[in-house]
Amino acid sequence: MAKQKVTVVGAGHVGATVAQRLVENQLADVALVDIVEGLAQGKALDMMQSAATLGFDTTIVGSDNYEHTNNSDVIIVTAGIARKPGMSRDDLLTTNQKIVTQVVKETIQRSPNAIYIVVSNPLDVMTFVAWQTSGLPANRVVGMAGVLDSSRYAAFIAEAIDCSIKDVRAMVLGGHGDSMVPVPEYSTVNGVPITQLLSADVIDQINERTKHGGAEIVSYLKTGSAYYAPAASAVAMAESILLDANRLLPACAYVTGEYGIENVYCGVPVVLNRHGVERIVEIELRDHSYKLLHQSAKTVKELCEKIAAVPL
Ligand code: APR
Repeated sequence: MAKQKVTVVGAGHVGATVAQRLVENQLADVALVDIVEGLAQGKALDMMQSAATLGFDTTIVGSDNYEHTNNSDVIIVTAGIARKPGMSRDDLLTTNQKIVTQVVKETIQRSPNAIYIVVSNPLDVMTFVAWQTSGLPANRVVGMAGVLDSSRYAAFIAEAIDCSIKDVRAMVLGGHGDSMVPVPEYSTVNGVPITQLLSADVIDQINERTKHGGAEIVSYLKTGSAYYAPAASAVAMAESILLDANRLLPACAYVTGEYGIENVYCGVPVVLNRHGVERIVEIELRDHSYKLLHQSAKTVKELCEKIAAVPL
């Protein structure tokens, strides 16, 4: 198969780590872009100089403009400001709205066939902004949140049960914020539901810690937010698209009637392949999870309506 190409916009913590994982795993050639002069160039050059040692022959080029991004298969948007302690993801709203709009306008004309993976926060709203700006069918614009939140959930489950993380499959749906919905009934250790392995109290504690998993890291870092797990999650999604792998992953997709939710970007299980979101998978949820998913979608919708009123 011919080498594919991924543009990563934003060469900060998340973007640079995404780029590094993509080239080191030889998933695609990478064009890295950042608005700060020299930042993407410097980091790309540094990564290229690790190729001989690590043995990869994918390439990476950095720029402060979009000259190298033409004909990308996937565009990963990590540009924006990150949270500081005390800030919610929603506090980033208007600043990141302007940035994401600009990034999509610049990239779509050069890569009209690309699939977008949005990482900038507040995630669900920024994915909506990217979709609206791009004019693409909604299946080609997807947001990264569910893989990350589920990965955090899995880490806490493995720790509580004291079992191998390799056997844990966890699912978190809904918006990427305080309203996210950990789904214990679909979280298992090698098929065994965690509800049979942990008490309801412990599951509640893990659910809460998962919902605030990002804030916990922000409170340690103080000057920025998480990036290792977010980058790994974005790359897992890119991989499923680039390799046409049909993985079933929780992701932020445009929901049009599934789960009784209408016309909003929200975290749901999807099948991801070279078409982007091949389909949204409707799973049976217990009443409690179903209600929480509805509340979460409503919260996202309200934020989307709020930004629609803000002139750019
Ligand atoms: N075009 C290109 N790059 C931009 C633009 C723009 N218009 N505006 C900002 N950037 C770049 C910044 O220069 C910076 O290098 O985006 C990068 C963001 O990097 P960090 O500040 O390190 O933030 P990071 O931790 O990578 O988070 C990026 O992802 O997880 C989310 O909440 C997080 O919205 C944030 C985004």
